[in-house]
Amino acid sequence: MLTIDLTGKRALIAGVADDAGYGFAIAKALASAGATVSVATWPPALTIFKNLLERGKMDAARRMPDGSLLTFERIYPFDAAFDTLEDAPEDLRTNKRYKEVGDFSVAGLANRWAADFGDRSLDILVHSLANGPDVTKPLLDTSRAGYLAALNVSAYSLIAMVARFGPVFRPGGSVLSLTYMASERVIPGYGGGMSSAKAALESDTRVLAFEAGRRFGVRVNTISAGPLASRAASAIGIIERMVDHCATNSPLPEPVQPADVAYTAAFLASPLGAGITGSTVYVDKGYHVMGMDVGKA
Ligand SMILES: NC(=O)c1ccc[n+]([C@@H]2O[C@H](COP(=O)([O-])OP(=O)(O)OC[C@H]3O[C@@H](n4cnc5c(N)ncnc54)[C@H](O)[C@@H]3O)[C@@H](O)[C@H]2O)c1
Repeated sequence: MLTIDLTGKRALIAGVADDAGYGFAIAKALASAGATVSVATWPPALTIFKNLLERGKMDAARRMPDGSLLTFERIYPFDAAFDTLEDAPEDLRTNKRYKEVGDFSVAGLANRWAADFGDRSLDILVHSLANGPDVTKPLLDTSRAGYLAALNVSAYSLIAMVARFGPVFRPGGSVLSLTYMASERVIPGYGGGMSSAKAALESDTRVLAFEAGRRFGVRVNTISAGPLASRAASAIGIIERMVDHCATNSPLPEPVQPADVAYTAAFLASPLGAGITGSTVYVDKGYHVMGMDVGKA
């Protein structure tokens, strides 16, 4: 039987801080397929996330198909806005959410990974994070700082992560990120340069597939996911309307489930996806092919 088997594979998912988003669902799918999963969490969300885990508040979501609970091999602090600790401003480094966690930069994360697991220890890297401080503002009203912050955290961070983690990948490694159709179609309300960041992320996926494929032997893909009312998406303010609109107007008229995206991620990360790199893979119930609204039946 053909199955997705990730036994013996080690995965790191950046951008997990609760059980409601795509990153968590991907963690569960990869673990269900046999991978060992670590996560990297934004320092401002780290304490709450650990408390939720320790107090059993996420046990229902952590329940695996075999009845066991999803566990994380490591939970690292990670702020994708900074390549090195020195790049972080002093007031952030001394902030109460940051000062005790150690080196939370991209380099810090890669160094901790190498110290914990050694050379050639990573098989799957998932970038499941985004942030745009001006996301609720139209592009026309977005400040330069807000635009650059969106690009920094939501797009450049993928380049930085592939560059730093490339050397620790084992042969057959896979990098995956999450994008959104606002990169190519106008989604009013998805502002602040987040649409630009997703366009950059998709373009970078193609170039990184070539460069990191040649340099490190890894594949690089991105999943263009349909709307989901995650914590990050709720900041957009119109997420319920986006979910409803897609469910109503897609070829498959139902909301995208986190597991739909997660199973695709597991496939892409597995040896079954060995021929796929540089791709934007749509997991949106087909919404992206539509040229006209259908409306409610
Ligand atoms: N929810 C959707 O509708 C949707 C649709 C398509 C694509 N996506 C993408 O999926 C990915 C995951 O988002 P989600 O919607 O599942 O929400 P989520 O809230 O589960 O994940 C976003 C994560 O990004 C983290 N983050 C924010 N700033 C960070 C920083 N500077 N450094 C490190 N981490 C940081 C947050 O703490 C959070 O854990 C994102 O790339 C998002 O753009 C989401």
